[in-house]
Amino acid sequence: KNIVILISGRGSNMEAIVRALEAGQIAGARIAAVVANRADAGGLAFAQQHGIATAVLDHKAFASREAFDAALMALIDGHAPDLVVLAGFMRVLTAGFVTHYLGRLINIHPSLLPSFPGLHTHARALQAGVKLHGATVHFVTAELDCGPIIIQAAVPVHDEDDEASLSARVLAQEHRIYPQAISWFVAGRISLRDGRACVANAV
Ligand code: GRF
Repeated sequence: KNIVILISGRGSNMEAIVRALEAGQIAGARIAAVVANRADAGGLAFAQQHGIATAVLDHKAFASREAFDAALMALIDGHAPDLVVLAGFMRVLTAGFVTHYLGRLINIHPSLLPSFPGLHTHARALQAGVKLHGATVHFVTAELDCGPIIIQAAVPVHDEDDEASLSARVLAQEHRIYPQAISWFVAGRISLRDGRACVANAV
């Protein structure tokens, strides 16, 4: 299966996925390309060092969101993807883009959805005083951070936490559950039923 990963920055989730692949934990998959919308995305160097094709498509070079997404789709489709993985890709995608990849487009979000969709999730979790926080891998649908949930990981929130300590605790879990979700997808174990993602037991 061909996987295309989209990043905007540091790319630590992409790195975790690549390392899981290299360790044989995602059988039957290859990373066809890592695409960034910023030339300064830190993760690009790691991908290149690991022999993965990279591309940069700068959204600022396009007059509209639609024009950027059309070019992005053409770039991605050139790699015949079975799965498109958003890994810290900081662009809201158009309905046309999301529809085109429906069922093969996944994202990781740093909260226990449906709590705290959107930005600044760790600060908002601390502000709300929740005792559990975490991360969610979900299919992407037109509504932001609302698609069918594939896997979640919860972490405790400690009284002495700040944004940095809490985000680090969540990030460690992100690096575990994103490769897990991808291995399930590649193995054909995830199905959508009534708008929910179900994971079949391994045979
Ligand atoms: C992660 O916290 C992810 O959940 C969010 O953006 C961050 C990306 O980090 N969507 P990285 O680029 O994978 O290191």
